[in-house]
Amino acid sequence: MKIERGNFGSKVGIVLATAGSAVGLGNVWRFPYMAGENGGAAFILIYIACIFILGIPGMLSEFIVGRHGQANAARSYDKLSGGKPWKFIGYLGILTSTIILGFYAVVAGWCLQYLFASIVGQLSGDVQYVKAYFQDFSCHPVYPVLWGVYFILVTQWVVMRGVRSGIERASKFLMPILLILLLVLVVASCMLPGAVDGIRFLLKPDFSKLSGGVMLEALGQAFFSLSLGTACLCTYASYFTKYTNLLNSAGQIALLDTIIAVLAGLMIFPAAASVGVSPDSGPSLIFITLPNVFQQAFSAAPFVGYIVSLMFFVLLSLAALTSLMSLHEVATAFFEEEFHTTRKHAAIVVTTTTIVIGAFCSLSLGATDTLTFFGRSLFSWFDFITGQIFLPIVGFLTCIFIGWYVDHQIVRDEFTNWGELRGRFFHLYIFLVKYVCPLAILLIFLHQLGALN
Ligand code: PHE
Repeated sequence: MKIERGNFGSKVGIVLATAGSAVGLGNVWRFPYMAGENGGAAFILIYIACIFILGIPGMLSEFIVGRHGQANAARSYDKLSGGKPWKFIGYLGILTSTIILGFYAVVAGWCLQYLFASIVGQLSGDVQYVKAYFQDFSCHPVYPVLWGVYFILVTQWVVMRGVRSGIERASKFLMPILLILLLVLVVASCMLPGAVDGIRFLLKPDFSKLSGGVMLEALGQAFFSLSLGTACLCTYASYFTKYTNLLNSAGQIALLDTIIAVLAGLMIFPAAASVGVSPDSGPSLIFITLPNVFQQAFSAAPFVGYIVSLMFFVLLSLAALTSLMSLHEVATAFFEEEFHTTRKHAAIVVTTTTIVIGAFCSLSLGATDTLTFFGRSLFSWFDFITGQIFLPIVGFLTCIFIGWYVDHQIVRDEFTNWGELRGRFFHLYIFLVKYVCPLAILLIFLHQLGALN
């Protein structure tokens, strides 16, 4: 059976959908804190260098595999592999994105629950209250699972509608809203008394804080933030057209992703500084620290505080949704094409698998002890195995594949759109992908596993 493949209908759609994958919780809960703690603008400069050295070449490599293959990730790798088993990179990418989909949906469900809680005013109370609220909620055996399921169903609904009328349309609608919400929140936060201290914390360059470890952290963050190593970029690129300028698109996506990460910092730190709270990172930042910060910062005008909190959780939910869409699409495209089934059936299989993974992850956070292994919850195991092991492996092997194995004429054809573009940076790209990126990924890998500390 020959399957008619969809594709993205416009350049803007391509950039917004792919940036939607890249812009996620990582931009809000990880980047700002890393930047603030590790030298402010100095860190941001290093981060931008990492985007150029690793992010853009890595992204381009996945784009090349995907656009050349015009198929799901496993088949796309296979098409370039000359009968050798390189398609396992694709399989590993698909497995990785499915697992991430499961636990990312749990956290996305929390965002939705907090959005609801903001609307009905359940988040107001003192510090202890908000902390207890989060602990009670995240350990509850039923509610977080239901919110996660709900989120996955919304994701499925978008994905099932197809690439153009589902993913592209939703991204074109949601990404501008996300950006507007973010800008409004940045302005509100920066206008608070004492906000300057927060801005200074985020942006003041302090080069003395930059160490080898910090640089590796920046590399790791660049990698995760651009959704590298999950087959998301490869799958989306299989829907690009033959006119899509891969290098320009990668540059625009990386730029948007970085701007949004910096703006997230300008939303968080000024508000936190205005009430004298020092922000942290991860779930406790967005589910404990910030609800408190918003309450206190806008205590003179509680209604504004109410709106700010609501807008913040809408923002997070949107950021999570567009990332989930890309993760869902990876496995949906795989099932649809490899098992010759309809998109609807494929999407349902993926959703069901994800709900099972997500439910176990959620339950492992407190509802039961049986899902804790060697002192780590299942949630945390999945996070560890995908983030620290699978992602770097997929990224590393993709660079080796493109840099050392695939015929460079094919790579050049994709890079230049078969000679339409000048391809000025082609040699630089090949140099990076052959030597620099694999080495960088290897170092991140060893650093994350603690071998380089
Ligand atoms: N890039 C997303 C973020 O910053 C996370 C993500 C990783 C999404 C991999 C899809 C694939 O949060």
